[in-house]
Amino acid sequence: MALSLSNFLVSSIILLTAFVAAETHTYDFSIGWVIRNPDGQKDRPVIGINGEWPIPKIDVTIGDRLIVNVKNDLGNESTSLHWHGLYQNGTNHMDGVAQGTQCQIAPGASFTYSFTVDQPGTYWYHSHVGGQYPDGLRGPLIVHDPENPYADLIDEELIVTLSDWYHEQMPPLIAKFLSVSNPTGAEPVPQSALMNDTQGLQIPVEPNKTYFLRIVNMAAFAAQYFWIDGHTFRIIEVDGVYHEPTEASLLYITAAQRYGVLLTTKNETDANFAIMGSMDQDLFDQIPDGLNPNVTSYLVYDASLPMPEPSEIEEFDPFDDMELVPTDGEELYTDPSLIVQLDVLMDNLGDGANYAFFSGITYVAPKVPSLYTALTAGEFATNASVYGTNTHSFVLEHNSVVEIVLNNQDPGKHPFHLHGHAFQTILRGEEESGDFDPESVTNGSVVYPTKPMRRDVILVRPNGHLVMRFRADNPGVWLFHCHIEWHVDSGLIMQFVEAPLVLQETLTIPEDHFAACAAVSPPVPTIGNAAANTKDYLDLTGQNLPHAPLPSGFTARGIVALVFSIIAGLVGVAVIAWYGMGEMSQLEKEKQVDHVQHVAADRGVVSRTNTAAEGDVAGGGDVISEARAK
Ligand code: C2O
Repeated sequence: MALSLSNFLVSSIILLTAFVAAETHTYDFSIGWVIRNPDGQKDRPVIGINGEWPIPKIDVTIGDRLIVNVKNDLGNESTSLHWHGLYQNGTNHMDGVAQGTQCQIAPGASFTYSFTVDQPGTYWYHSHVGGQYPDGLRGPLIVHDPENPYADLIDEELIVTLSDWYHEQMPPLIAKFLSVSNPTGAEPVPQSALMNDTQGLQIPVEPNKTYFLRIVNMAAFAAQYFWIDGHTFRIIEVDGVYHEPTEASLLYITAAQRYGVLLTTKNETDANFAIMGSMDQDLFDQIPDGLNPNVTSYLVYDASLPMPEPSEIEEFDPFDDMELVPTDGEELYTDPSLIVQLDVLMDNLGDGANYAFFSGITYVAPKVPSLYTALTAGEFATNASVYGTNTHSFVLEHNSVVEIVLNNQDPGKHPFHLHGHAFQTILRGEEESGDFDPESVTNGSVVYPTKPMRRDVILVRPNGHLVMRFRADNPGVWLFHCHIEWHVDSGLIMQFVEAPLVLQETLTIPEDHFAACAAVSPPVPTIGNAAANTKDYLDLTGQNLPHAPLPSGFTARGIVALVFSIIAGLVGVAVIAWYGMGEMSQLEKEKQVDHVQHVAADRGVVSRTNTAAEGDVAGGGDVISEARAK
């Protein structure tokens, strides 16, 4: 009797919560520098919120409104906030992409994000001013769901964030990465891995309970293998989409991916267990001496017992997410009306630096944020050229089905992310499988799943391929890009402009968004095509363009030789080699310096002078010393 009464109470509470009115969560965020040392190796400036770092975890419930009033108190850098994975259907202008859906928020300026969250799941939020979030401006965003189909199985929730960590700030690292002295485009290697922005964290658990463990990789670069010694778990969510419970013991989680798993604890409390993250070192061009790729936390059943040594794993054989089936059973979209083929390749441009290309185009930000171009271009908004050559835009028809065929012609692994959607992932080629061959589908050697897995970030294997589909049911300007932040900086971005005429009828940009544009120096224009031409939308004269290509026949190896010759020249050994190798003109070399500053300006770094200095923290001197004093 008592039992059934309590059952009754529980179900009426559940019933009640389903009818609770949506809440509004309002945050006032002052974004500014603080000093932290999360890996215990080095104090460094990190970007915090309201003097805190780690930055706040945001918890909302489906249907709630989130209002975030941002004030940029960094002093020396612009910023923005992107709500990674939220579709923003109807609120494209809240997506947070600098020069995509808004202007960068300049130092001293303010900007309000306000939108309703109408999807459940595990998300995160981060700066979308290129290169910035690894300096600390990233945190989890959880959307709770009273109607979680697996709610009956869950006793409690836990969250684990993974990330890589650099001791140096991003602006100087980007300058080194995108430079003639790094012609092969070797990405800076992180110094450590973190879990919940620390190491050695103890997470208390109770025996014989089921936890909904949400795992978010907020890394700049490194994917991590993730496992818990002595335990397996059941995956029920990937990137916010429920999937049928599937047993796994080892996950491979790329930058920006999330997993929601059910973790059932043991009956006994006689031991504690290591929770392990291990960075995928295949991503690193060279492995620095003494790099510890691992981060350990502990599942603590009994705090009086010792914390265990983690077990060694000889070879990683992670769970393949392609096996998952969405809980809602959504079927494969058929008859795509547009197939977008993107061939990924890295190459050098005339400045000698290494850039990333989708089908020969490296992304360069437009002069006018593309959303503002879409809203002001009238009927020309459906002509992709108004968004500029190097935004690499495709205009999509409302509700059409779009297929992306991505051929990775690069020997690296890349996690690709689409804004505004979770896509169906219908095919992933093995490593070295080469470009996608449409014949393989027509001749039946490849069969697409009937209910494909859906997520918003997917790994492509080295020299492999991907086929994805999505429905263009979300009018807006949505980026598709590699979520390795180095590749965002080297241009591995393209964009979809979905139903721009619908946008023109439905979207109104709030005044404070335009005020943010006016606060940038010089002010960012808010009407016109990518070149800010308001008279003739098809005249792109003056648009932002990348460096000219290298003189033909000039290879990365040639640049390496050139760089060595420069170094040799500097030590006075082989001045002649300079001329011998000098197919790149002196002018180009001078422009190189210029270029790094230009890229930085594109990325919203306003003053970069002291950002590199250790100890002497980033440019806004007063801001920093204030932060330090705290
Ligand atoms: Cu996590 Cu373009 O975003």
